[in-house]
Amino acid sequence: MSRDLARSLAPLVISAPFGNYIQPAGTTATVGTYTAARRGGRPAAFGRALLTTRYYRRLGAWVNRIGLRNPGIDSLRAEPKRGNPLSQCLLSIHGFTPADWELLLERTTQLKPMAVELNISCPNVGEISWPDNLFRQAVATGIPVIVKIPPVRFHPMVEAAIAADVRWFHATNTLPVPKGGLSGVPLKPLALSAVKWLRESYGTELGIIGGGGIRAPEDIVDYAAAGADRFAVGSYAMRPSVLNSERWVADLRQSAGAMVKQSQRTQP
Ligand SMILES: Cc1cc2nc3c(=O)[nH]c(=O)nc-3n(C[C@H](O)[C@H](O)[C@H](O)COP(=O)(O)O)c2cc1C
Repeated sequence: MSRDLARSLAPLVISAPFGNYIQPAGTTATVGTYTAARRGGRPAAFGRALLTTRYYRRLGAWVNRIGLRNPGIDSLRAEPKRGNPLSQCLLSIHGFTPADWELLLERTTQLKPMAVELNISCPNVGEISWPDNLFRQAVATGIPVIVKIPPVRFHPMVEAAIAADVRWFHATNTLPVPKGGLSGVPLKPLALSAVKWLRESYGTELGIIGGGGIRAPEDIVDYAAAGADRFAVGSYAMRPSVLNSERWVADLRQSAGAMVKQSQRTQP
């Protein structure tokens, strides 16, 4: 696992866009996803996220079609008025064109986040693709790079990223379904198998953030068994019972911390 990021990344990661709103102590929040230009809505409007999201209670599943609403990368400051400085956060970005990506990476270099997460797996913004030189350009910034992959058909993306020396992956984003992106409990088996594939294919040289359907300490144990180094929670933060409580974070943070400690003990 790439040591640079391993030193600073907390065991529990708050996925984008939830890290814009929730930054519990002892976790690493992902802010964004930011695009080059503004896309309707402001990240502060958490209610909007809920309005474009449908919850299937019996399935423990969410389907959203938010499509990366955000105020654009130029609204972001290294020391925001609210929340943690970017040096303590992951910055998630998405470009629609090569010029967008160039601008986003230039801003990333100036903003100096803990790491940059390339979100090339959002199912709500059209075809999943990336410029040929994206991964090399991102690595050249000198800021640790994480590629966030979709839960299916991620192999060409991973191979291209590895060839460009990317060493961190986040598995996974939501699953494309007719009404948007599916997250929560039904995503977990797919995300787990992506984590397992990454670990089995590339061994210990990779850092893997595993997430999809995490809502209890047992889920974190499952992701650790599949090979994840860190654990990401997203949709679960939208549960009304969870929004006003610190307890859920405390349990997940403790379990994630224990798993990271355990793997450090077993590593050579
Ligand atoms: C309402 C909603 C909005 C999302 N927006 C983003 C986003 O802007 N960028 C991103 O990388 N992932 C986004 N995701 C995906 C989550 O970060 C996470 O990877 C995914 O939902 C799986 O984890 P979970 O089951 O814990 O939610 C979004 C998910 C939901 C439910």
